[in-house]
Amino acid sequence: MNKDHKVLYSGMQATGNLTLGNYLGALKNWVSLADEYECYYGVMDLHSLTVRQDPAEFRKRARALLTLYIAAGIDPEKNCLYLQSSVPCHAELAWILDCFTYMGELSRMTQFKDKSAKHADNVNAGLFTYPVLMAADILLYQTDVVPVGQDQLQHLEITRDIAQRFNSIYGDVFAIPEPYIGKVGAKIMSLQDPSKKMSKSDENPNASIYLMDDPDTIRRKCKRAITDSEATIAYRDEQPGLKNLFDIYCTCTGKSSDEAVAEFQGQGYGQLKEAVGEAVVGILKPMQDRMAEIAADKSYLDRVIKENAERAYYSANKTLRKVKKKIGLTEMPR
Ligand code: TYM
Repeated sequence: MNKDHKVLYSGMQATGNLTLGNYLGALKNWVSLADEYECYYGVMDLHSLTVRQDPAEFRKRARALLTLYIAAGIDPEKNCLYLQSSVPCHAELAWILDCFTYMGELSRMTQFKDKSAKHADNVNAGLFTYPVLMAADILLYQTDVVPVGQDQLQHLEITRDIAQRFNSIYGDVFAIPEPYIGKVGAKIMSLQDPSKKMSKSDENPNASIYLMDDPDTIRRKCKRAITDSEATIAYRDEQPGLKNLFDIYCTCTGKSSDEAVAEFQGQGYGQLKEAVGEAVVGILKPMQDRMAEIAADKSYLDRVIKENAERAYYSANKTLRKVKKKIGLTEMPR
C-alpha cells in the first residue's frame, strides 16, 4: 500500500444478492482507482444487521463479498480488504459520533424513510443511526475520497457535516471526504421499471441482473428489459429504458453514449438488447469463474481476512485514540 497516496474508502453491505448496479456504480470504479490511492474496502457486515440475518448464511455472504472484491481485480496485498466487524473501532467511533448527530438530520435521510416504509415491522434504532456508522467507517481512515453510487450521496453529505461539526469544536481531527461518482453507471435502473434504481431487494427477479446470474439468465433478462414504443435509437431522458440499456452497455464496454448510439443506428431494440446481454456476460462470467477459484482456497482467504483486519485496525485505531483524547476520555495508563 502506497502511504504517500491520498486515502480512498468504500464498502458494500453483505446482504442479499448483489446486482449489476453495485458493480457498475461502485466496484468497477474501485478497481480503476486502486492504483492512485491508499485504499480501504470494507465488507459492511455491521450495517447488514439492520435486517434480520440467518447466521450461517450471513457468515458465508460476508466471505463471498470479500472474495468478490478480489475477483473483481482488487489486489489484497496492495489494498486493504477487510470485514467491518473485525475492527471494533467502527462501532466505538459510531457511538461517539451519535452524540454529535441530530435526530432531525437523521430523520431527513431518504434511505431511512424508504427502508422504514419497506420494513414497517422492524424499524429499529440501527436503521435510524445507520448513516452515523457509515460516517465512522469513512472518518476512521482519514479518507479523502469515497467512490459510491448516487444513492449514497446523502450519506456522504451527513458524514461531511458530522466531521466538520466535530472539527469545529476540537480542531482538525478528521479529513473531510469527497464523494466520487462515476460519469456513467452511477445509477443503474431496474430493467422492468426504469424510474426505479436496480436494487437487490426488488421483488421481481427480472428487474435486476445479479452478479451471480448465469449467462443465459443475463441474456434473457436483457431481452425482456422494458423499453418504449418509439422505435428510435437515442440516448435521452424521454426514453429512460433505452437510456439505461445504453448506460449499462457503455459502462461495460468503455464506449461513450455517442459512440454507442452511432453503433446501433438503424437497428432494432432487439439487437441492442442482445449486445447489452453479451457485454454484461463478458464482464460477469470471468469474475464468477475467478470467484470460484479463490473460494476454493480457504486458507488463502483466511490469511487475507486476518492480515487485512490487522492493517485496518492499525489505521483506524490511530484516529480513534486521537478522538478519545480530544473529547476527554481517559487513556489506558501505560
Ligand atoms: P450498498 O451495499 O447498498 O451498495 C454498494 C454500492 O453500490 C452502489 N449501488 C448502485 N450504483 C449504481 N446503480 C445502482 N442501481 C446501485 N445500487 C447500489 C451504492 O451506491 C454503493 O456505492 N451504506 C452503503 C455501504 C457502506 C459504505 C460505507 C459505503 C457502509 N459504510 C462507507 C461507502 C463508505 C450501502 O448500503 O451500499
